[in-house]
Amino acid sequence: MPLIGPAIAATAPKVIEPKPVSHQLAPDGYPKTAVWAYDGASPGPEIRLGQGARLERRLVNGLDQPTTIHWHGIRVPNGMDGVPDLTQTAVAPGESFDYAFDVPDAGTYWYHAHWASPEQVGRGLHGPLIIEEAESAPDIDADLVLALDDWLLNEAAQIEPNFAIPMQMSHGGRIGNFVTTNARHDFTQDVQQHQRLRLRLINMANARIFPLALQGLDGWVVAYDGMPLAQPEKVTSELVMGPAQRIDLLVDVTAAEGGEAYLVRLDDDGGMVQAAFPVTARASLTRRPDPVALPPNPGHAMGTLGSAQTAPMKIEGGAMGRLSRASVEGREMGFREMIGQGQFWAMAGQAGLHDTPLVTASMGETVRIPIENDTVFPHAMHLHGMHFREVLGDGAMGPMRDTLLIAARERREIAFVADNPGDWLFHCHMLGHAASGMMQWVRVV
Ligand code: C2O
Ligand code: CU
Repeated sequence: MPLIGPAIAATAPKVIEPKPVSHQLAPDGYPKTAVWAYDGASPGPEIRLGQGARLERRLVNGLDQPTTIHWHGIRVPNGMDGVPDLTQTAVAPGESFDYAFDVPDAGTYWYHAHWASPEQVGRGLHGPLIIEEAESAPDIDADLVLALDDWLLNEAAQIEPNFAIPMQMSHGGRIGNFVTTNARHDFTQDVQQHQRLRLRLINMANARIFPLALQGLDGWVVAYDGMPLAQPEKVTSELVMGPAQRIDLLVDVTAAEGGEAYLVRLDDDGGMVQAAFPVTARASLTRRPDPVALPPNPGHAMGTLGSAQTAPMKIEGGAMGRLSRASVEGREMGFREMIGQGQFWAMAGQAGLHDTPLVTASMGETVRIPIENDTVFPHAMHLHGMHFREVLGDGAMGPMRDTLLIAARERREIAFVADNPGDWLFHCHMLGHAASGMMQWVRVV
């Protein structure tokens, strides 16, 4: 008997439990905020693994509604992707589900709830997933994960409980009034002059776009959405991050001892401090030489675009749009009737998940999706399961990404190699937009 207990315990995966907790989110003097958090923390515990390692977590649902976990940006087998009704059955309250998969790619990823996402993510169910390079990790002094987020709080510092406000869903989405870094409005980290830091920026907000700048820091982008750039890109202008996007930066502290360096958020009313880095000492007399690229992740060759299958997709709807009708659950509806159903958007003529995919691709096939944003709002289009590149014209291709921010009225095009079998969601990561129509999917067979 005594031998059986420990043997079972040794093989049981680590538990991750979403549940309600209170958190001092607003400044001191305000009450604590009731949030939903993984293992009592929002952002949830940092999951950090070496490239090629196995991630194993038993999701135990401590909420009073179903949930799932999606591992955003990491290539997983389809059954581990955490999309209710497409890749798994949602996990009922008190029930559990085992996630287990190998992580092929190094980089900055994140995990978040994928059932009733506007509310579950909006209440705090998200956390960083960091995969360390198997070899040639950059030479740095500190590795900082910065989870950027916003919260919609009332005067009692509690989360506005209506996550389906038509005025938000049909416009830019749910934009919070309280902006945080790692759930702190005053995130501060001591640094030293001439140190080199790796900043892993993750936009975990429901809908906010973060325009960012560096002050007292000299930086290079080394990866977007987890995927290394062939060459580091010097930061010379603002960095814009749509919901769900990540940027890996290497920054050298140039501000002098006694000064401060900042990650600045460029709001309409000017620059706001997103993260403060007081310079407490001088680490060395001189800076390091310019950084080199991160090692590339395996198996991401782009196929030939000429013979690719093309599946054009028009985004329509929203306030001030020209959508007149779309298919909702397989039935044609006028825009007015759609609004009655809480649907404001359509992609390729459909609002919400349908039985048929946007495109069915064979393994190894290259797929192109020209996207026309025929709305007056930006959208952050996210493909599950595979990274894509933007087709830029003149044969040029953009960096590997999993989420593309498309401005109002813009036309953009993405291409990817369908190399991961299964049914993959393709949706807007402004979560209120996804919940009110902006969901499609892609099948790889
Ligand atoms: Cu982070 Cu379906 O998304
Ligand atoms: Cu959108």
